[in-house]
Amino acid sequence: MTVAEGSSSSKPFKSKTTAYVVVCWIFAAWGGLMFGYDIGISGGVTAMDDFLIKFFPLIYERKLRAKEDNYCKYDDQMLQLFTSSLYLAALIASFGASKACTVLGRRPTIRLASIFFIVAALLSGLAPNKFLLITGRILFGVGVGFGNESVPLFLSEVAPAHHRGAVNILFQLFITIGILIANLVNFSVANVHPYGWRIALGLAGIPGVFLFCGSWVIMETPTSLIERGHETEGRQSLQKIRGVDDVENELEQIKHACEQAKKVKDPFKKLMTRESVPPLTIAVCVQVFQQFTGINAIMFYAPVLFQTMGFKNDGALLSAVITGIVNVLSTFVSIVSVDKIGRRKLLLQACVQMFICLVGSGVILQMNLKSVGTLDKNLAFVVVVLVCLFVMSFAWSWGPMGWLLPSEIFPVETRTAGFAFAVSTNMLFTFIIAQAFLSMLCHMRAGIFFFFAAWVLTMGLFVLFLLPETKGVPIDEMADRVWNVHPVWKRFMPRSGKGAEMT
Ligand code: BGC
Repeated sequence: MTVAEGSSSSKPFKSKTTAYVVVCWIFAAWGGLMFGYDIGISGGVTAMDDFLIKFFPLIYERKLRAKEDNYCKYDDQMLQLFTSSLYLAALIASFGASKACTVLGRRPTIRLASIFFIVAALLSGLAPNKFLLITGRILFGVGVGFGNESVPLFLSEVAPAHHRGAVNILFQLFITIGILIANLVNFSVANVHPYGWRIALGLAGIPGVFLFCGSWVIMETPTSLIERGHETEGRQSLQKIRGVDDVENELEQIKHACEQAKKVKDPFKKLMTRESVPPLTIAVCVQVFQQFTGINAIMFYAPVLFQTMGFKNDGALLSAVITGIVNVLSTFVSIVSVDKIGRRKLLLQACVQMFICLVGSGVILQMNLKSVGTLDKNLAFVVVVLVCLFVMSFAWSWGPMGWLLPSEIFPVETRTAGFAFAVSTNMLFTFIIAQAFLSMLCHMRAGIFFFFAAWVLTMGLFVLFLLPETKGVPIDEMADRVWNVHPVWKRFMPRSGKGAEMT
């Protein structure tokens, strides 16, 4: 049990890390596992012949007659749509989830997410026809929309300021664990005929049940309670999560933020005002950039990508498992360093590492992999190492920061609405990559690596000039301590108020 004092511009906040609060973090972060499982499972399922024969017989036939071109083997819009449709549903659901977070609270929204996951897992695992399969897929998407909206917000609101980064990154950690479990499940059931795909889809129900149970154990966040007028419960919740009785300073600050929030009748309208430009721009750009690192080309299609380089089926699946392990382990680097060295340094370091890996892989493939034939064994090994180094740097930077930054930079009045924009932007661009990557690979060939490298360069410049450091700043003091003192963003802030006086 540790005792620490969070910093506020004026008064310190006391907190202890109790066993109960750690349990709450872990239960809530479990929502990330559901998302990760969905990311990891669909690529493997769509590669299973039994699944294709049952639902997509035409695609199966086409696969048998597949073009021999290395880069175009798997280019098929329908196949990509199965993977990507979930993200369209999540995109739309995130706006409903934002409303649910505000009106019902963060905890019931997490519970709703778990219910969607359980029903979706049952439907898709047992699906007798395409209609129920797709309905299941859509419900998974709704669950992802609800979970991805409520869980990072929950984590950022219950974490003490000095550990907020680490606690929030538990969500990303569970995403990576979910992806890895899905990779392992795919690997294990690929040869279970004819129901391997049913096991893979249905197993998502187990973590769904766990999340549902967890949603009864965790408490509601103090901010959400106070925002909805339950001040006494808000104080109790704060005492419980901080592990100390004296929470007056922090409570005052949350109450002040919520009073300001009450003056705003329509959060989405408020998001369109000048002073919301800084957090909204950052929340949206961070999500677009996260997806344009190209990470999901690897997460969705790693086995396909490795087959493109000439690996046999098992070798390709195994390489996907290896990248999955690298993804999980590297996330710990972020957990221990984000509140010490800060968000900006991690993001900038990763841009350099990702750029080198992308250009390196691009050059090797451009020079050595033609439409027919395979890559030399040693070179293929080098590319796998580069892919692992790429995943590693993503895992301690753009992966976790994509969820952390948007959850901590909005004031209470626009927090859930602003975060909904972030989630839906993430889903939109995840959809685009899922839908377009295989076609892009077919048309751009090795050039696809240079395409992503150019994006990585752009995002590095964005971080350098436009992203302020938010490490250790209490979540309800961003306006005063971040936006009002930033050389570019302060121009968007109102002149009056505490913060304006500081600039
Ligand atoms: C991203 C996912 C990605 C995952 C990889 C998450 O932060 O939102 O799109 O697949 O990281 O670990």
